[in-house]
Amino acid sequence: MGAIDIREGGAIPEKQVKHLFAALGWGHYDALLPQMLLNSTFVVSAWDEARLVGLARVVSDGVYASMLHQVGVHPDYQRAGLGSELVRRCLAKFAHTHFLLTIDDPAQASFYDRFGFTLAPNAMFRPRER
Ligand SMILES: CC(C)(COP(=O)(O)OP(=O)(O)OC[C@H]1O[C@@H](n2cnc3c(N)ncnc32)[C@H](O)[C@@H]1OP(=O)(O)O)[C@@H](O)C(=O)NCCC(=O)NCCS
Repeated sequence: MGAIDIREGGAIPEKQVKHLFAALGWGHYDALLPQMLLNSTFVVSAWDEARLVGLARVVSDGVYASMLHQVGVHPDYQRAGLGSELVRRCLAKFAHTHFLLTIDDPAQASFYDRFGFTLAPNAMFRPRER
């Protein structure tokens, strides 16, 4: 692994995101990707030269509430601090707002604990219909 470049904003080729998401088992997002990226308030990405190796995105109203979505680091690049740096960048930009996120697996909670996230008994979730 060379030096990793963290980029805030900027266009990210959809093909690169597809490759990263495929490595994370997130192929089900493929059809949504163009709008997911375009309509995100903030996208932060990690690059090993021209290769996208990590991504996180925020959807926010900019004043009250933000959602953190699709925090992912390529398996070859995990456990090297990249995921933490991506999350830190997202939180720093919207630190004046509440943050919400969903997790696929309760074990992931221990990754987000360190950034001040707590399991919320007062939150409710409704999955999308299709
Ligand atoms: C979760 C994920 C983004 C973490 O990225 P990463 O670059 O490996 O994380 P870091 O190297 O910054 O790890 C920071 C700390 O979190 C811990 N951690 C990393 N991945 C973890 C996970 N999946 N669950 C719990 N803790 C985790 C590390 O052990 C490390 O702890 P340490 O500082 O005490 O050693 C990455 O493992 C990933 O992409 N996983 C698959 C996708 C996923 O589950 N995304 C989250 C839900 S959207």
